[in-house]
Order: sequence, then structure tokens, then C-alpha cells
Amino acid sequence: MKPCTIIIFGATGDLSKKKLLPALYHLNIENRLTDDTKIICMGRREVAQDDWREQVKGYVSEKARGGVNADSLDKFLAKISYFKNDINDSSSYQDLKILLDDPANEFSDNIVFYLSISPSLFGVVGDNLAAAGLNKEDKGWRHLVVEKPFGYDQKSAAELEVVLSRNFTEKQTYRIDHYLGKGTVQNIMVFRFANLLLEPLWNRNYIDHVQITHAEQQGVGGRAGYYDGSGAMRDMIQSHLLQVMTLIAMEPPADLNDESLRDEKVKVLKSIRPITEDMVDSHAFRAQYAAGTVDGKPQQGYLEEDDAPKDSVTETYAAMKVYIDNWRWRDVPFYLRTGKCMPESKAMIAIRFKKPPQELFKGTDIGASHANWITMGLQPDNTLRIELQAKKPGLDITAHTVALETNEEEDPKHKLDAYEAMILNAILGDRSLFLRADEVDLAWKAVDPIIEKWSKEQDFVHTYPAGSWGPEEGNVIFDDSCHQWRNEI
Ligand code: BG6
Repeated sequence: MKPCTIIIFGATGDLSKKKLLPALYHLNIENRLTDDTKIICMGRREVAQDDWREQVKGYVSEKARGGVNADSLDKFLAKISYFKNDINDSSSYQDLKILLDDPANEFSDNIVFYLSISPSLFGVVGDNLAAAGLNKEDKGWRHLVVEKPFGYDQKSAAELEVVLSRNFTEKQTYRIDHYLGKGTVQNIMVFRFANLLLEPLWNRNYIDHVQITHAEQQGVGGRAGYYDGSGAMRDMIQSHLLQVMTLIAMEPPADLNDESLRDEKVKVLKSIRPITEDMVDSHAFRAQYAAGTVDGKPQQGYLEEDDAPKDSVTETYAAMKVYIDNWRWRDVPFYLRTGKCMPESKAMIAIRFKKPPQELFKGTDIGASHANWITMGLQPDNTLRIELQAKKPGLDITAHTVALETNEEEDPKHKLDAYEAMILNAILGDRSLFLRADEVDLAWKAVDPIIEKWSKEQDFVHTYPAGSWGPEEGNVIFDDSCHQWRNEI
């Protein structure tokens, strides 16, 4: 592990307070930051060093697993400093360079620039860093970490790429999709490729369809201002859920090298059957939450949320059907859905197998055959369940569903946040958890026709009471009348 300097742009923002600084604190406890690694927090305002450290203490204490440890906190705070930076002012970057170059400050030449700022500022930051020569890898390496959203459609994402690539190479660019940092999402790979049992069945000959669900109880809260320009399709499906789908659908990579893995994911995205405008209504569905009750508490409707335009048709629930036209998956529907104000907060994958070809037990008490399911819980718990039919004990020949089930409950003290893995990998230079430009492009290509059609249809959106699983009308995307959403692991 090499020392490095982590420079956070937008360090006074929400993501930094809630995720980045606590993640760095935990990495430090786990000895994943070397003694001479330092963290420079950048913000617009003037803040005295001691005051900033006091604030960081508050952010970290709130999130520290198992309570904050005074000694660990002091060690962490010793790494932290504050630097007032005006993002638009080039002289501010010259000052940063002077600070970094001064040997008395002992900053490592390996630098992670973490852009926790609006993507509209990526260009100006990149240009100013380059003008100060801070993107050059003459002495140490330079990694640029950027947060979503990467554009709002394929075209704007391509424009953003042009802006980023002006000053940083693809190899230096780390695009975050925090879902890839979740241990449970990484577990999909282990489950698939560390077991022989599944691979022979993992294809169109045996699998009927796949469901990927992300449900959350929260509404948009104070984020309606941002969210209204995005909606659930962009916010969750284009990014996180399509990523989960690639891990379920991809071929085994040649090795665990980051590029080998990303090549396989890209192959899946390239094979997605295009959805044309006339197909949108049978392949995608949107809805918005109305007032209701979530977890026993009243929840106002989306249109009543602060900053939500009163005539908005922005979806807080979205579902999509994807076909992957390759040898393994042709004609197997992958159903993806996400919703806010759902009855539960959970993310899961449910894989339904085909029924046995022969109805051997039809005339008996066992009756018509059942399909097997494999389900994987991604959150809140890491679960795996394989359902089989078995004979009930007793003289009669009747069957019931039995399940092989694991529930790997994590010790709360070791329950990692995805950002710990993301930051650690950005430091280590392992890009397997980050998105390559072509992945982003292809994911937009998959959803763009839907988003485009919806943007033209501004008169009506289905609604669902907060606290429900979304409107029945959403079933329109199912291929088969016997398909239905599975809400339970
Ligand atoms: C974010 C979205 O990327 O992911 C949020 O912008 C969403 O709207 C969140 O709530 C979900 O992440 P998680 O880790 O809570 O499932």
C-alpha cells in the first residue's frame, strides 16, 4: 500500500459528510490508509483548520460503526486539512500546487482527486487542474474519481466524456456506481463463478425470467429539486440496476483483471435488444407516489414534496423489460424495477426457472409442476435461497416447497459501506468497481428511447399510494400472464 493525498472537491457537501469522510475514517481504522496518507478537504468558504476538524469529528461520530473511538478519531483528524478553493478561479489551483509541492508539508505525489460536485463543474475543475499541471503523472499517479449522474441521456453523457477526457485519460478516470462497492453485489460473481452447480443451468434453456428489484421506503425528501429532472429510470435503472443485470448475465471473465471484467459487462450491454418508440409501452412503465402510509407513518405525495413542480409527471417508480440477444439469454426477459415509498426497503434478484418438461405428477395429489426459484437478497441482508420441490413426509404423495437458505448476517461492526470499497479501490488503482466510458454510453443507449418518449408525454402519469408496491397497470410489461413480481426473498 502506497501513501497518497486524497483531495475532495465539495468536501462540505452532503455526500462528503455522510459517506466519504466516514468511509475514510473506517478505512483508517482498518489500516488501509498509510500513516503518511493525507486528506485535503476543499470548500468555497473560509474555515479555520481547527473548526473544520471539529466539524469532521461530528460527521464521523454520527456514522462510526459501534460508536466513535477517541484514539482512532484523533489519528484520523491528524490526516485532515481544509483548503479554501474557488472552483472557477485558476489562481486557487496554483495555490494548491504550491501547497502540494512544498516539501515541508510532506504530501505524497500520488493523488486521488475526488469530485463530489455537480457534473456541470467537472470541466472547469479538470481544465484548472491541468493548467496548474496537476493532472500530470510525472512524479506520482493521479486518479480522478467522479460521481454520477454521468449525463442525463446518451448525448449529454458523451459530451461529459469529452470534457473529462480533455485532461484525464480513461485509465485515470474512476466513475462511481456505488452499487458495485456493495459486498453483496460482488457476491453475485462469487456465487456464479466459484460454484460448478449453477453454471450448467444459467441460460435460456433452464431460466424462464429474471427479476431485479430495488425498493426503498423513503420518498425523495428534500431532493425533489434534483430528482425532478432525473426520475427513477435515470436515477436507478440506467445506473445501478443495469449494472446488477450485467453481473447476473455476463460470461465468466478470463481473469479478475479489471479490464477483463468490464469487457464482459460491456458485451452484455451491447447485446441488449433495442427498444424502439413503438415498443416503449410494452417494455417500460412509470408511476409516481401519491399520499399514503409507509411503515405506519403518513407520507405526502410526490407533488406535495418541497421543490416538486405541481404538475410534474416525473416517475418515482419505474420498471423495464430487457432482452439480451445472445446465445445464453435470447428471449429470457429480465425485469428491472425500482420505487420510492415502497412497503419495504430491499434490493433483491429473483431467478425463475422453467417447469420440468414432463408433467409426471399431474394426475396425483402433487398436481401440476412448480417452477424452481433462486433468490438473492442484496440488502438489507445478504441472503441466498434455492427453492426445490420435495415430498411431504407421510404415506401420501404430496409435495411442498423446501428451501436451502443462507442468511449471512454481518456483524454490524463490520458492515461495510460501499464507499469504503470504492475509495480503497480508487487508491489501489483497481478499476473493476468503476464504470468504463463505454458501459455508461451503452446503458444510456438502452434507456434513452424510454426516457425520450416519457419526456414527450407530459399529460399523465400513473400514481400509487405511498406504501404500496406500485400500480397493477405496471404488469403490462410481463411477457406471460403467469409472470408476477416476487416481493419476498
Ligand atoms: C442513489 C440514488 O444513486 O442510490 C438514490 O440517487 C437512491 O435516489 C440510492 O436512493 C439508493 O442506494 P442504496 O445504496 O440506498 O440502495
